[in-house]
Amino acid sequence: MHPFLPILLQLSIFTIPILSSPIPPPLLHQNATDPPPPPQYNFEVTQPLPTTSLTPSCTLALISHNFSYTYDQPPVTIPYSPPENCTWSNATIEFSVSSKGTQHARIASIWLAGAELLRTSTAKPTENGVFWKTTKDITKYNSLLIQENITVSVMLENKVDSVFTGVYVVNVTFIYYDSNDINEPLQPLKRMSRRFLENNDIALNTLTNDELTSFSSSSGDLYAKPADLIIPISGFEEEGYWFRLESESDKRSERVAIPKNTYKAVLEMYVSFHGNDEFWYKNPANSLNAKYGNGAYREVIVTIDGNFVGSAVPFPVIYTGGINPLFWDPVVGIGAFDLPTYDIDFTPFLSFLIDGDFHRIGISVEGAISYWLVDANLHLWLDPFSEEVQAGYFENKAPSFEFEKSAESKGLDAEFEVEMERKREFSGWVNSSFGNFTTYVKHELEFENEIEITKNGNEEKIEQKVKEQIEVKVLSDTGNTISESKLEKEFPLKIKTSSVAIAESGGYNVSSSLDNSYEEKIKNSNGSSTLKNRQQASGWMVVVDGAYEVVDGEASTNQSYSYKGNSVCYSRVIGASNGTILSDSTNFLCMSSH
Ligand SMILES: *[C@@H]1O[C@H](CO)[C@@H](O)[C@H](O)[C@H]1NC(C)=O
Ligand SMILES: *[C@@H]1O[C@H](CO)[C@@H](O)[C@H](O)[C@H]1NC(C)=O
Ligand SMILES: *[C@@H]1O[C@H](CO)[C@@H](O)[C@H](O)[C@H]1NC(C)=O
Ligand SMILES: *[C@@H]1O[C@H](CO)[C@@H](O)[C@H](O)[C@H]1NC(C)=O
Ligand SMILES: *[C@@H]1O[C@H](CO)[C@@H](O)[C@H](O)[C@H]1NC(C)=O
Ligand SMILES: *[C@@H]1O[C@H](CO)[C@@H](O)[C@H](O)[C@H]1NC(C)=O
Ligand SMILES: *[C@@H]1O[C@H](CO)[C@@H](O)[C@H](O)[C@H]1NC(C)=O
Ligand SMILES: *[C@@H]1O[C@H](CO)[C@@H](O)[C@H](O)[C@H]1NC(C)=O
Ligand SMILES: *[C@@H]1O[C@H](CO)[C@@H](O)[C@H](O)[C@H]1NC(C)=O
Ligand SMILES: *[C@@H]1O[C@H](CO)[C@@H](O)[C@H](O)[C@H]1NC(C)=O
Ligand SMILES: *[C@@H]1O[C@H](CO)[C@@H](O)[C@H](O)[C@H]1NC(C)=O
Repeated sequence: MHPFLPILLQLSIFTIPILSSPIPPPLLHQNATDPPPPPQYNFEVTQPLPTTSLTPSCTLALISHNFSYTYDQPPVTIPYSPPENCTWSNATIEFSVSSKGTQHARIASIWLAGAELLRTSTAKPTENGVFWKTTKDITKYNSLLIQENITVSVMLENKVDSVFTGVYVVNVTFIYYDSNDINEPLQPLKRMSRRFLENNDIALNTLTNDELTSFSSSSGDLYAKPADLIIPISGFEEEGYWFRLESESDKRSERVAIPKNTYKAVLEMYVSFHGNDEFWYKNPANSLNAKYGNGAYREVIVTIDGNFVGSAVPFPVIYTGGINPLFWDPVVGIGAFDLPTYDIDFTPFLSFLIDGDFHRIGISVEGAISYWLVDANLHLWLDPFSEEVQAGYFENKAPSFEFEKSAESKGLDAEFEVEMERKREFSGWVNSSFGNFTTYVKHELEFENEIEITKNGNEEKIEQKVKEQIEVKVLSDTGNTISESKLEKEFPLKIKTSSVAIAESGGYNVSSSLDNSYEEKIKNSNGSSTLKNRQQASGWMVVVDGAYEVVDGEASTNQSYSYKGNSVCYSRVIGASNGTILSDSTNFLCMSSH
């Protein structure tokens, strides 16, 4: 038996294949005569989309499906064509779900023509039922949304039996908006492409904002004008298009040939971690011989023809069964209903890609153990006036990579540390009808993780810091700055867990606290925006070996979300305990603190 049983037991209960953790029964027992309470509404705290204030021009209900025993089955797939007689400039996807009973948290994705639109995890149902709705802006996928006779697929692997009774009842709807309805100075996309075709001698000084912003490359702006073509870097439909990576040597790739008139390219990655790597940031070094091992450093690596071109350390999304399931009711973890995506600007590498030949785009996860679900969309912007563009690559500073780790153990206690720093600078020029522009991308990534196991293996403390900085500059050949932007991301995470054996029941009382934040600052020639999103939770739960449920517990979760843009601000502060919202305040005011 492993010496760290208490901590690891907690993981083994909550980490069953494909499943995040199971569901605690309702904490409060009601009288048989009371009417059943209404289903609980679960949600992720995030700011409302700008489209919420618009009237949809069309609504397309695509899928209504009950996901019961769907394990090892292909995704649910239906044909898609855009709604008839509909003009739109923006679109959103609505993923709404209800469920009743007991069930593990599951992972789900939606693909349009094999390109992923949304990755989401599920809330845990209760006997009284839960429901939730995720709405995401999918305007950047417009080149697919306008296509006829393609397919929409939804994968949600679930297992239903006499214990795990929860069926996920899912509706998928696309909603289309014409923002011209509110006199927003924006060309509807369909009209815009027509204008391109009618106007053959466009010069730089006649470019519209839409056309100019297609060159700007801060992460917030990368898709300011949606791409003209999206190529999925993904697997087979039968397995749900994602690649399932079992180890760090499990490298997947897709051969793609891209149009010779591509003037900008961005790879957008979807990533989620499961099984023995669901809590990768808590994993001890292999010296502990734990099932959940390989240390606590993971990095998603992207290659073109085997050459490193970019990477990302994923944000630690905690699914609704994670750490203590009572934390996530009714407010779920940051990113749990809309997992973050990671963009790699491919524009500096276009000279390698536009030769008309096939090239291999590869994805792997450094440090991975079973298993990761990854895939990507290659967004391409095409020159409407030219069949070919020319491109070149500038030799840059060689990417630098520093990595240090240490492990110490004494009796049942241990200390692990990992530090990583990666820097890369890439640039390349593309001569298109818009001009000869050079894109410079500078990327810095810092990662630090510390794990301390004390009290004879009964206490665990994790502290992780991830910092990322991306600077992008686009210059014309006459030296004019076309766009300039800087993106800074930071996501610190702290988790403390301690287990105490309960003599009578043979179970454990597991106490934990969590502090997880996502911060983002974007600065470009036009102004700046900041986003700060922080969750703090603490509580305890009683788990019994062999049982699949939390049998007792108490939890408190506080979250503060604040976004400040040039003219838009939004903040929300929320406190929840034992499944009930105790306080909730929202503010749209921009405080003039700067
Ligand atoms: C519509 O999409 C564009 C990007 O193509 C974006 O700039 C604009 O803010 C969106 N409008 C709304 C109302 O969401
Ligand atoms: C799906 O489940 C819901 C709730 O249990 C039920 O009302 C509905 O009839 C089911 N739909 C199908 C197609 O089975
Ligand atoms: C679309 O518009 C055409 C022409 O106005 C009309 O004949 C047709 O019935 C419309 N179709 C729908 C589905 O509204
Ligand atoms: C799904 O759609 C059906 C039919 O439109 C509707 O009755 C049901 O309430 C929807 N369910 C959810 C969870 O939105
Ligand atoms: C889509 O399928 C329909 C029905 O089979 C067909 O009439 C239409 O021409 C197809 N559209 C395209 C763009 O292939
Ligand atoms: C800068 O802001 C102006 C005014 O809001 C807008 O028209 C323009 O497209 C923006 N440019 C970039 C590069 O974002
Ligand atoms: C740059 O591209 C434009 C448009 O495709 C083309 O007319 C021009 O000749 C190119 N410049 C050079 C130096 O090749
Ligand atoms: C484009 O600009 C770059 C940088 O100024 C230059 O090295 C390259 O030769 C130019 N390409 C063309 C086709 O003019
Ligand atoms: C579990 O531990 C917490 C924190 O020490 C304590 O407050 C709680 O009463 C304990 N619960 C049980 C059932 O032992
Ligand atoms: C959440 O906020 C409440 C009220 O300020 C406080 O009593 C509680 O300790 C906080 N919980 C956590 C986990 O920070
Ligand atoms: C949460 O539930 C526990 C156990 O039932 C109880 O002791 C505690 O007072 C509750 N806390 C709140 C804030 O309701």
